[in-house]
Amino acid sequence: MSKKILVTGGTGYIGSHTVVELIQEGFEVVIIDDLSNSQVEVVDRIADITGVKPGFEQFNLCDEGLLSDFFQRHNDIVGVIHFAAFKAVGESVTKPLKYYRNNLVSLMNVLESLDHLSLKNVVFSSSCTVYGQPDNLPVTENAPLKPAESPYGNTKKVCEEILLDACSADIDLNVISLRYFNPVGAHESALIGELPKGKPNNLMPFITQTGAGILPELSVFGDDYDTEDGTAIRDYVHVVDLAKAHIAAVKHLLNISSDNNYQHYNIGTGNGYSVLDLIKSFERHTGQKLPYKIVGRRAGDIEKIYAGTALANERLNWSAKLELDEMVSSAWKWQKTLKN
Ligand code: WQD
Repeated sequence: MSKKILVTGGTGYIGSHTVVELIQEGFEVVIIDDLSNSQVEVVDRIADITGVKPGFEQFNLCDEGLLSDFFQRHNDIVGVIHFAAFKAVGESVTKPLKYYRNNLVSLMNVLESLDHLSLKNVVFSSSCTVYGQPDNLPVTENAPLKPAESPYGNTKKVCEEILLDACSADIDLNVISLRYFNPVGAHESALIGELPKGKPNNLMPFITQTGAGILPELSVFGDDYDTEDGTAIRDYVHVVDLAKAHIAAVKHLLNISSDNNYQHYNIGTGNGYSVLDLIKSFERHTGQKLPYKIVGRRAGDIEKIYAGTALANERLNWSAKLELDEMVSSAWKWQKTLKN
């Protein structure tokens, strides 16, 4: 009998890639998603890739009645991977209450609904944004957290605190928070990938949409940072590697009764790349010049961050395998499948 995992936000970018890996690892998956930032067709795409169609229910996790009913019908769930959240940094600045309500209430509803289950295991989607600009690099999990650069980032910090307190109050609750660095790329099938609604927020979709002629040119936000080429540095991690980290975390929760029921791990490659590095990789891969211009820094951006990955390597037996060129080539292959 396959072990059943709930994936909230499972039709989203990282969620869908994680559902594919869960199914291919032999788990049974059921998705809850309100489709506010994803499309229901992704469920069929997952089936096309894996040959197995995951369960899918459409509702918002802030509706505790619907959520309680769901868990009563699926009381054999052995783990929850919680992706569902609003994640547009810019929008969170203009609509903070929308972000606090959705991201915090949905998590609290999930935690309270776990009482319907015999096993209470949660993998939480967190972010390296909780570190702000680290004092030392690579940044390790015991680095001090900094004031969030946005309400979005603050919801991640507050959610981690909620989870820590919930675990302190309930020894039967086991949680792993995964602090993602910068997820990029797409599944090799190009059947699933990042589907930003409207103008993208993140660098890679900006690069591929510019490469596809959807956008006229890329704006590079600042080249006056204290880095080798002056542009900001991030730890880009292939979304498939990131998805596999969730499988490693679920297995860790199911197999190892750790004395510490709240753990958090950095999920990155440990390598830092600049904006210009990504542009050069794209140009190398496609053989086409990418039109870009240097503009001023973007408010809230940090200069440089990349992950210390020793803890995830050792405790979760996980490390990133895919290199920058594969991140760029898979993102470009995915972009070319999208209608303009
Ligand atoms: C990367 C670099 C930009 C666009 C955010 C969130 C983080 C996570 C990932 C959700 C920066 C530069 C970007 C552009 C550019 N989100 N850039 N021109 O800001 O590091 O992280 O997304 O999980 O939580 O904070 O990612 O892709 O927006 O930017 O020059 O058109 O690319 O300045 O240096 P970021 P990003």
